[in-house]
Amino acid sequence: MSKVYEKAPECNIGTAGHVDHGKTTLVEALTGIWTSRHSEEIKRGITIKLGYADAGFYKCPVCPPPKCYSTQPVCANCGSKTELLRVVSFVDAPGHEVLMATMLSGAAVMDGAMLVIAANETCPQPQTKEHLAALEVAGVKNIVIVQNKIELVTSQEALKNYQQIKEFVKGTIAENAPIIPVSAQNKVNIDYLIEAIEKHIPTPKRDLAKPPIMYIVRSFDVNKPGTRAIELSGGVVGGTIVQGVLRVGDEVEIRPGIISTDDSGRSIAQPLITRIVSLKHGGLNVDEARCGGLVGVGTSLDPSLTKADNLAGNLIGKPSMLPDIVNEITLDTSLFETVVGAVKQLKVEKIKPKEPLLLNILTAITLGVVKDVRENRVMVNLKKPVCTSKGQRVAVSRRINDRWRLIGYGVII
Ligand code: GTP
Ligand code: MG
Repeated sequence: MSKVYEKAPECNIGTAGHVDHGKTTLVEALTGIWTSRHSEEIKRGITIKLGYADAGFYKCPVCPPPKCYSTQPVCANCGSKTELLRVVSFVDAPGHEVLMATMLSGAAVMDGAMLVIAANETCPQPQTKEHLAALEVAGVKNIVIVQNKIELVTSQEALKNYQQIKEFVKGTIAENAPIIPVSAQNKVNIDYLIEAIEKHIPTPKRDLAKPPIMYIVRSFDVNKPGTRAIELSGGVVGGTIVQGVLRVGDEVEIRPGIISTDDSGRSIAQPLITRIVSLKHGGLNVDEARCGGLVGVGTSLDPSLTKADNLAGNLIGKPSMLPDIVNEITLDTSLFETVVGAVKQLKVEKIKPKEPLLLNILTAITLGVVKDVRENRVMVNLKKPVCTSKGQRVAVSRRINDRWRLIGYGVII
């Protein structure tokens, strides 16, 4: 259960970094919540799905920085009542190499990110590189680097690792990001980390007057098995609002909606029109919800439509106000020189006709088959239609040695 604060979460801060470097432990150190709760995650000890957890950042009026920063309403150093600066929501991404597409859908809802790097391993590890590239592709520019597990190394080793990090980020979006040494497990230097987040990851300006758009990252059937038909709750979708405001009572459209296949094997999308019956934001039932954090939208939809993340990757907004549904897109592509996520240095070959690609379009993940290639312009037939528009950046992954690897991005033209 999320803690409830007197303000709603206003900014999403993601985690990024190689498997086991301590992303979920860090989110727990900041929020008190262990986000990896699914049975498979517990069994395998890794994060599989995106996790969300909120933290209030407080400042003590008496203590000097960084000691003044904490996640507590009362200062642990001097006992003064602290001031709530803002509530942020952490979006915890998986680091395992096979879960890159999930990390990329998380990146679509991040306003900033903590790149977590374990101090006891050589930097960079493959997904340290691939996740930084993913942040770059998703346009997540505000980054704080967290050098974790600092208690496992000597100060000399920590310094050597710091130099490796500096060398690695040279020429990237993280070149000037602060590097904060922490021990997530022992909650060491969390005050320094909050100070760095406050300085480097501001809450973006939001346009509340625009028509609302929410990116759906999860969807559920919240009814317990055996619930009587008359007592069933409607389907629930969860995600982040990126512009505008959603209100209880609003009529909304979910696009592309339900995907089915016709007799000729073509995918057909059927958008869903429904009404918002409840809203949950920051653990509270609210009448209206805004940008930042995870918003749970209760609808009047048949819950079988929303079960098991069925609607993840959809957009929700006012009817007829969302971008078009497309089955085919043309991308102006920019490919990396090498495959960043692989251990071996592999060159990224040009995209070829008929090749399958995995595309991340905001929170939607879809397979596509290349129909035509003209220089950098790549036309792709999508297996699953998506709701998108021209100018949208798309992360492009290719299957290499049995793994989907991020090879670059394209802009829809
Ligand atoms: P994925 O989500 O699967 O990519 O892993 P993760 O980056 O979320 O790592 P997680 O937080 O699950 O931690 C992995 C292991 O590292 C766990 O056994 C943690 O207890 C351990 N760990 C995390 N932070 C620290 C730390 O500061 N010091 C030490 N010694 N161990 C840590
Ligand atoms: Mg994790």
